[in-house]
Amino acid sequence: MTMLCVKGRTPLRGSVAIGGAKNSAVALIPATLLAQEPVVIENVPAIEDVKTYCELLQQLGATVQVDGDELTLDTSTVDNIPIGNEKVQSMRASYYLMGALLGRFNEVTIGFPGGCHLGPRPIDQHIKGFEALGANVQRKEGEIRIEANQLRGARIFLDVVSVGATINIMLAAVCATGQTVIENAAKEPEIIDVATLLCSMGAKIKGAGTDVIRIVGASKLRGCRHSIIPDRIEAGTYMIAAAATGGEVVVEHVIPKHLEPLTAKLREMGVTVEESLEEIFVKGSDRLQAVDVKTLPYPGFPTDLQQPFTALLTQADGTSLVTDNIYSGRFKYIDELQRMGAHVRTQGRVAVVQGRSSLSGTQVRASDLRAGAALLVAGLIAEGVTKVGETHHIRRGYEQIERKLVQLGAEVWSE
Ligand code: EPU
Repeated sequence: MTMLCVKGRTPLRGSVAIGGAKNSAVALIPATLLAQEPVVIENVPAIEDVKTYCELLQQLGATVQVDGDELTLDTSTVDNIPIGNEKVQSMRASYYLMGALLGRFNEVTIGFPGGCHLGPRPIDQHIKGFEALGANVQRKEGEIRIEANQLRGARIFLDVVSVGATINIMLAAVCATGQTVIENAAKEPEIIDVATLLCSMGAKIKGAGTDVIRIVGASKLRGCRHSIIPDRIEAGTYMIAAAATGGEVVVEHVIPKHLEPLTAKLREMGVTVEESLEEIFVKGSDRLQAVDVKTLPYPGFPTDLQQPFTALLTQADGTSLVTDNIYSGRFKYIDELQRMGAHVRTQGRVAVVQGRSSLSGTQVRASDLRAGAALLVAGLIAEGVTKVGETHHIRRGYEQIERKLVQLGAEVWSE
């Protein structure tokens, strides 16, 4: 099995171009099931989850053409066959097939979604939304069957702010009759991105990016062209890596506003962060201050950056408290950080990071996607060579990470 190896202690220097957002791409691809004409998606990241999603659509009968970072998806010939296989299990975002196929065919049978193990990840709010739209939901033997005679617009209050439920309900509601209102909706930029694509397809959606989204059902959606927003989590990971190595890096093709919660925390630590229209310059400091951080739904600090940010905090003077309010099980990588010499302990949802600690390279295991990113950041800091195993998790969400880090001067290779 391949390992990503990092020889630490080289400050990163230069510029890195950020790809399209993974968590948009994995919702935009199934959204094309609602148009019965070709949809072209630009700025598609070259990551495993995109590949898996395209294969899922092909399995349903769609035609997928790849031209560089552009995807053309024609779903006009798709059949509504039951989907329950390892591809569904390999990523969380396969749950968007529920909303998209329900919206298109009024029924769907699908296996339960998999994805990173971050503690309990229920989908009760997705189901609540489908039921409110008039669907009947039945679970049996690892499968879920959702069907409706006719989807009808409804008022849905989400009990939990959920990215997945907000998008899934939008997908199901765009072709329902009448008006749907999603209250306490998630506000992530990826939700705006999906709403933008759906509106280009002819859907009528207002309020995406706020906590109240109003959708008026449209009878038919058409083909269109759409460009994916930059991946704020990939960008944030490189910003953290730059700060962790005391480097100087320009992160290109980003929307700086999307990175504000991270930018604010880095500045509090003493890192220089300068923003321009589509770039962020990060310059590390040899005296980093401890800071406390709590993950929250957007525009709060993203849980997806909690893990790499904690690796950075091992280099700050003093004690930092990291609270993950979104996922109870997102601290598994801390065992691995400890094996590298980090002084971090967990108390329930809080990680207590005592800095600054000397990290040394060793063999570690990425338990999930962002855990992998955290261990790479730790490897960039550490003395000696860190070998990160289970890299398939990292490749699910970071395009060409080895090449991008090497371009920034890091010593990184596969073994
Ligand atoms: N939740 C419920 N019930 C639901 C749905 C969610 O209780 O029906 C809870 C979850 O257990 C969690 C919280 O609500 O505690 C937020 O979950 P959310 O639904 O927002 O997460 P998600 O849609 O499953 C997406 C991203 C995650 C990211 C979270 C939070 C995708 C494919 N995944 O997951 O990304 O951490 O939002 O921002 O968009 C990653 O990229 O590494 C990743 C895990």
